Amino acid sequence: MMAKRMTYLIVIAFVMVISGVLSANAAPAKAGVQQKPFGTRDGRPVNLYTLTNSHGVEVHAMNYGGIILSIRVPDRKGQMADVVLGHDTMEGYIPNPPYFGAIVGRYANRIANGQFTLDGKTYTLPKNDGPNTLHGGTTRTFDKVVWDAEPLRGKTGVAFSYLSKDGEEGFPGNLKVKVTYTLTDANELILDYEATTDKATPINVSQHSYFNLKGEGNGDILDHEIMLNADKFTPVDKNLIPTGELRSVKGTPFDFTTSTKIGSRIDDSYEQLQLGHGYDHNFVINRKGSGLELAARVYEPTTGRVLEVSTTQPGVQFYTGNFLDGTITGKNGHVYKRRYGFCLETQHFPDSPNHPDFPNTILKPGEKFHQTTVFKFSAK
Ligand code: GLA
Repeated sequence: MMAKRMTYLIVIAFVMVISGVLSANAAPAKAGVQQKPFGTRDGRPVNLYTLTNSHGVEVHAMNYGGIILSIRVPDRKGQMADVVLGHDTMEGYIPNPPYFGAIVGRYANRIANGQFTLDGKTYTLPKNDGPNTLHGGTTRTFDKVVWDAEPLRGKTGVAFSYLSKDGEEGFPGNLKVKVTYTLTDANELILDYEATTDKATPINVSQHSYFNLKGEGNGDILDHEIMLNADKFTPVDKNLIPTGELRSVKGTPFDFTTSTKIGSRIDDSYEQLQLGHGYDHNFVINRKGSGLELAARVYEPTTGRVLEVSTTQPGVQFYTGNFLDGTITGKNGHVYKRRYGFCLETQHFPDSPNHPDFPNTILKPGEKFHQTTVFKFSAK
């Protein structure tokens, strides 16, 4: 009797384990790129692109704003979750004040007083952040336009192209921009940014995804542990414009050179944290050369998910979603509250056109702009 019962229990346990394994590894959607109509904007079709790799990792992106709508990656048990904040539909992103998932440019981050001088001429830009221009201006910025799109051949990816016309948002030169998203079987999402211009212009393009490695809408990000490969950061004034100083992180709440919980010092009285309402600062990446360099590694202890960000850029804006305030309802009816996501916006330093000693952001005719950032996902 006892033996029969034991056998029965063993069989039940076996079935549960097998079905668990099967559902965790549920046959992934076919690897590759799929495209489907997703709406229209400015009279132009918007498509949704689904990139799927051989492990079932899946990225959704659309050619409106080059927005990444979702990134589904496994935790340490193989359980999939969508780790970026956003909306289910294109309409959800109109408007998109936090820039969820968007490509930002022509100049990502801030330009002080909406003004810069280039070759003796002063250019005035629309202001949208107190006295500053933030993320390229107000109307035809990279996050708000319909890009041309083309799925890649022989790779799991999609290329978005956009011609930003001479004078658009006050910037000089016809700027041809191409941003390519490629998903690899090593669970990397590679972002390639290329551009050419016919007049000298500032350029700084970035990706504004908000991550929560527990899964979007699943609480705040304060327990995530982050390592930033940066011995210095650029302190800001009250308008979040760099003062020009490159300050050592040593002995400050900005020292993430060893992995530290995001929330452990975020509300300290340190003036820079007060000014940023948390972290909203550009970190100067420690570089060995001009190639891909690790900028950040983030670990979420409950799921084991890890995000590593590598880039060819000199800086990364670490932003802890301080301005999210629960007024936006996103995917699955989730309400995004303060610090429910963090951004790692790889970039040149904010307001570089007004800081001649910062790394150069002026692209000239005949030159080719090329930057790469890699988001690599794993679990441990
Ligand atoms: C960037 C800025 C933040 C904020 C967000 C958008 O990360 O640095 O201050 O404006 O974009 O809300």
